[in-house]
Amino acid sequence: MKKFLLAATAAATLTFGTVGGAALAAKPAETGFQSAMDQRIINQINVDNIYNDIDHLQQTPRVAASEEEYAAVQYIKEKFEEYGYEPEIQEFEFFGYTAPHTVELTVDGESLNTLPFTYTPSGEVTAPLEYVGLATDLTGHDLTGKIALVERGAISFADKVVNAAAAGAEGVIIFNNAAGVINGTLGGANDNFVPVVSLTQADGQAILSKLNSGEEVSASLTILGAEASMRTSHNVIASKKPNNKNKDNGQVITLTSHHDSVPGAPGANDNASGTAMVLELARVFKNVPTDTEIRFITFGAEELGLIGSRYYVNNLPQSEINRIAANFNLDMVGSRDAGDLVMRTVNGQPNLVTELSQASSLRLNGASTPFAQGGSSDHVPFGEAGIPAALFIHSPLEPWYHTPEDTIDKISKEKLQDVAQIVSTAIYDYARFDNKGPKAKKEKEAVSTQMYFEESLK
Ligand code: BES
Ligand code: ZN
Repeated sequence: MKKFLLAATAAATLTFGTVGGAALAAKPAETGFQSAMDQRIINQINVDNIYNDIDHLQQTPRVAASEEEYAAVQYIKEKFEEYGYEPEIQEFEFFGYTAPHTVELTVDGESLNTLPFTYTPSGEVTAPLEYVGLATDLTGHDLTGKIALVERGAISFADKVVNAAAAGAEGVIIFNNAAGVINGTLGGANDNFVPVVSLTQADGQAILSKLNSGEEVSASLTILGAEASMRTSHNVIASKKPNNKNKDNGQVITLTSHHDSVPGAPGANDNASGTAMVLELARVFKNVPTDTEIRFITFGAEELGLIGSRYYVNNLPQSEINRIAANFNLDMVGSRDAGDLVMRTVNGQPNLVTELSQASSLRLNGASTPFAQGGSSDHVPFGEAGIPAALFIHSPLEPWYHTPEDTIDKISKEKLQDVAQIVSTAIYDYARFDNKGPKAKKEKEAVSTQMYFEESLK
């Protein structure tokens, strides 16, 4: 029975993919290629569960290491438990920085337009200004009790600040060497930094000509609320093990999302949508017989640079990485205002995830979901570790991306339903219980294609 279905699936793929150009637009209801296997999963998906979980999660932003992110972690854990899992919470630390809430600069009593440099410490300094050029080498300079006025160029902002601070400066002002403001970063925290802000080229040069004419110029610099510190975030992991230990093929499919958001954004689509879909598919798969482990993971601190997923992958021994057959990563899967579904792989090449999903989308919708190269989400650490991985996202992005407008009213149940169907049937196609051993499983696609040829030549 299973063999027949495999052959039928391959036949459908080949027919549409090679000779069935006109048939590409045909709907599954008309063509009947949506298999009973697909139906078994699709019938269990309840899109209202996804929608309601998005609604719950998007009540507040969920910035990594915040109380709100931790509340989301607890909610996800409880949902997994409600569905019969024993989730693990994986804690990790990272170095974080909070930008200041107050930044002021006055020079001789006049308030000037300024921006802080990322990683500046907080501080309040009032002192005379001393111009030190590019601050490339300040040995022999004594800037004790001064604020250093520095021009942009030649060396990094961080090196300028370290050099001025080493010479005794209590604060630093860096002015631009071209038009416009500097929105700069010191690249990372450093205990040797002193408070530092930027100025425009015009303002910097106006101060410089006063200094050059022998005037004493005094500045007041106020930076409040900036904080660099170690922080704690969490990944949530729930595992659906193969039902029969004797038929365990030893492989793992990971279905992932990130649950954190950027500051100020409720993140309904980015990425309560992916997280809520992971939860619903965990519910759907809980009692479905499989010979492959399905591991559901929601990551913290993605928006700060894929920190949670990198921590997860970096802490797997190579033997565990070798067991992971695929990573399906859901990030921004429900916006009514975004474009069509695409898959993004790290190297732009097809892999097991894109192949399974192209086959399932073709069976379900009569058209294969396209793929292209792309990063910027949690599939990247998996892909870089050599695991077949893809991001599921709609493109182009909605205008609400990373804004306070990323809210539940922009979420489309149709989009959610479509992605949930394509991904769950792709996963089931690989993970469902069959009699094949581990080696054959990894070659499943090739095997089924071969079967089709054998059948068709008869
Ligand atoms: N949800 C986005 C995913 C994404 C991918 C957006 C591709 C746009 C294009 C993700 O959360 C995100 O915003 N990623 C950051 C980079 C990340 C490493 C901090 C981005 O793309 O700016
Ligand atoms: Zn995201």
